[in-house]
Amino acid sequence: MLKTETDKKAEQSDTIANKLTPHQIVKELDKYVIGQDDAKKIVAVALRNRYRRLYAPEDIKNEIMPANILMIGTTGIGKTEIARRLAKIADAPFVKVEASKFTEVGYVGRDVESMVRDLVEQCYSMVKTQKLEEVKTIAAERVEDIILDILIPSVKPSVPAHKVDLQSNSHGEKSIVVTMTEDVPVEKQKENGQSMEDLELNKRTREKFRIKIRNGEMDERKIEIQIQQSVSTGIGVVAPPGVDDMTMMNIQEMIGGMLPKKNKTRLVTIAEAKKILLEEEAAKLIDYDLVKAEAIKKTENSGIIFIDEIDKIANAQGKSGGIDVSREGVQRDLLPIVEGSTVNTKYGAVNTDHILFIAAGAFHVSKPSDLIPELQGRFPIRAELTSLSRSDFYKILKNPKNALTKQYEGLFKSENVKIEFTDEALKLISKLAFEVNEKLENIGARRLSTLMSQLLNEYLFDVPEKIPAESKLMIDEKLVQEKLSILVKDQDLSNYIL
Ligand SMILES: Nc1ncnc2c1ncn2[C@@H]1O[C@H](COP(=O)(O)OP(=O)(O)OP(=O)(O)O)[C@@H](O)[C@H]1O
Ligand SMILES: [Mg+2]
Repeated sequence: MLKTETDKKAEQSDTIANKLTPHQIVKELDKYVIGQDDAKKIVAVALRNRYRRLYAPEDIKNEIMPANILMIGTTGIGKTEIARRLAKIADAPFVKVEASKFTEVGYVGRDVESMVRDLVEQCYSMVKTQKLEEVKTIAAERVEDIILDILIPSVKPSVPAHKVDLQSNSHGEKSIVVTMTEDVPVEKQKENGQSMEDLELNKRTREKFRIKIRNGEMDERKIEIQIQQSVSTGIGVVAPPGVDDMTMMNIQEMIGGMLPKKNKTRLVTIAEAKKILLEEEAAKLIDYDLVKAEAIKKTENSGIIFIDEIDKIANAQGKSGGIDVSREGVQRDLLPIVEGSTVNTKYGAVNTDHILFIAAGAFHVSKPSDLIPELQGRFPIRAELTSLSRSDFYKILKNPKNALTKQYEGLFKSENVKIEFTDEALKLISKLAFEVNEKLENIGARRLSTLMSQLLNEYLFDVPEKIPAESKLMIDEKLVQEKLSILVKDQDLSNYIL
């Protein structure tokens, strides 16, 4: 029954009409990222195109390739942020890798296929979480059964095992059926047997307590439960040369599987028991082969791989030598994956044809055209991000759902202290951030974090001793002036502190 219900739900939501349109995607991105409208539009189209492909006519469906995106722009202006938020919006598995990780002089870095394996890993846990959610109600009932068994001792303690069921006959009358699960001589049954009333009383009590457990009325009470523990090996397996990540993973898993599982008794509150047992019971209800298959499919159709710092593996013109050779090697390694190939993972083979790749780089020293031509061709869509202005900074401080001011407000609020920023204060912080970026190095919006922490750290230190709960802090222009302006003016100081 459960399955058909979830199937139905899946079918209902499985039409393109239920997916976000490009306009809606941009609107969602706007909640977190200020400006960068062109880049947002480009990624929104790319995301929508993936849905469109799935609903395109069969004969062309597999021919439609994702057009991978190359985001270009200086540091700290939202490249990673856009990609990360996009993945959240799409509810898609997402990994971010640094292209430079794959190069180390004199040493071939992590093999490039690992990014696909990481993606599947992520997708697997997404699918698993979703499946766990689906079986939660049934699992919760089972957990209640287990707790009830502990709380209300069985009616027939000496009989090894029995099952009590409430059954209705053809007239709709309910009766209790006790099934013996082990052969017990009839006399013994009688000897230990309880009257029907006892059984029914037991049943009623259990139901009463079930409700109490469910409502949390018993949460404080302590009970002893059995917990399955996998023994940790403590054996680190070091890969001998020539053995790839994949084989290592299998070996690790094999060793883990060979070790005995230990049962441990623990005294916990019912609230804790509910949590621990729910995980165990839910896990028993899941078909893990199905999770694997679904994870592979989802990875192939909606996975997003974000390759950061791709400029670092480009060969700046005119340069050549050891490092550059290895850089080009990484580009060549990347090609088949971006182009579409099959990667073996511990969950099965993954085809990378329709995975969306978004590469990003500042391209200060090198240019996109310094990438090997084949790779350039694999990232046909270019999104250029613009430098952030002073007013962008102001908005970044104030508007995004995860804005710095909101983060600090949350930190203070945890200690019941209220902090407020005047508009003028925020404008001044933005202005100073902009100035420091011009004077020192342009690190984009990241500059705001250093300024804010410089501004507020002392207050955070003083809570709660000097700034007790119920206090209210007002950050105004004058205060920012006092605390930050001097720093900004002093070149030596700002070099180190800001
Ligand atoms: N346009 C923006 N809107 C809102 N916040 C931003 C924006 N740009 C940057 N930020 C903030 O600055 C931080 C750094 O931005 P992000 O990680 O996107 O930089 P990046 O462009 O990927 O830089 P890098 O080239 O160094 O990787 C983000 O966590 C975010 O809080
Ligand atoms: Mg980045």
